[in-house]
Amino acid sequence: MKLKALLLVLAAAGALPLAAQADIGNGNGNGNGNGKALYSKDCMSCHRSIAGGDGSSLFTRPNRHVTSLGGLDKQVKRCRANTGLSLSDNQLKDIVDYLNATYYKFAK
Ligand code: HEC
Repeated sequence: MKLKALLLVLAAAGALPLAAQADIGNGNGNGNGNGKALYSKDCMSCHRSIAGGDGSSLFTRPNRHVTSLGGLDKQVKRCRANTGLSLSDNQLKDIVDYLNATYYKFAK
């Protein structure tokens, strides 16, 4: 009984990284959980006030500023710094993954 439970836990742990990668690829932002939720909570309302709609046209407009994955990373850090948001680097990474998978689609 105990051994069976242990095996189940190990199997789940082994499966997790794969599931996380698939999620990032799907663009649903929940690789390690919550890029989409973090973005919606901390970032979206300001972009909405700049760009209208849900604000995402900032990411899809023809003259958007971000032109590479590295650039996306830098811009997200810039927005964090400018706005004094207390997001950890891991949380920022989740947000970058979400924005890239959903809007920018740069090759990794
Ligand atoms: C207080 C306002 C504000 C907040 C909050 C904010 N941003 Fe921004 N963001 C801006 C402005 C202003 C721009 C630049 C728009 C422009 O140049 O037309 C921008 C641009 C961007 C861009 C680049 C769009 C492009 O042109 O490719 C990204 C990516 C971005 N923000 C991500 C984020 C993320 C992620 C967060 C939350 C951690 C965030 N922003 C929070 C104001 C904000």
